[in-house]
Amino acid sequence: MEIKNVGVIGAGTMGNGIAQVFAVNGRSVVLVDVDQGYLDRAMANMTKSVRRMAEKGGKDPAAAEADLKAKVRTRPTSSRWPASTSRSRRSSRTRT
Ligand SMILES: NC(=O)c1ccc[n+]([C@@H]2O[C@H](COP(=O)([O-])OP(=O)(O)OC[C@H]3O[C@@H](n4cnc5c(N)ncnc54)[C@H](O)[C@@H]3O)[C@@H](O)[C@H]2O)c1
Repeated sequence: MEIKNVGVIGAGTMGNGIAQVFAVNGRSVVLVDVDQGYLDRAMANMTKSVRRMAEKGGKDPAAAEADLKAKVRTRPTSSRWPASTSRSRRSSRTRT
């Protein structure tokens, strides 16, 4: 069975990398996070990354960016689990 659509929950370090890999390999991705700001930052990181990869490969960075944006949709969610991945818990752990 071919996978065409992928959902990624969490747009942090891991999530935006996973979303990018699926998108550049032709999958449609919905990337979800608790805050639009995290999603905006993830899109900015992915855009920078695909443009850099295109430049290195002698391809058109604008086309790579357009392909990425055609494949990845972002969606904020209102539900927040008490997950160990939340930024507040991570930062409180690193302070101790
Ligand atoms: N970063 C690594 O090198 C690495 C390696 C292996 C495993 N992991 C694991 O992968 C997971 C993610 O790590 P990360 O480094 O990307 O963390 P991160 O803090 O960079 O990103 C986590 C993201 O998840 C979002 N999030 C939290 N609760 C959510 C919810 N209920 N719904 C939607 N979004 C939610 C946060 O807002 C945040 O943007 C963790 O479980 C971590 O232990 C990370």
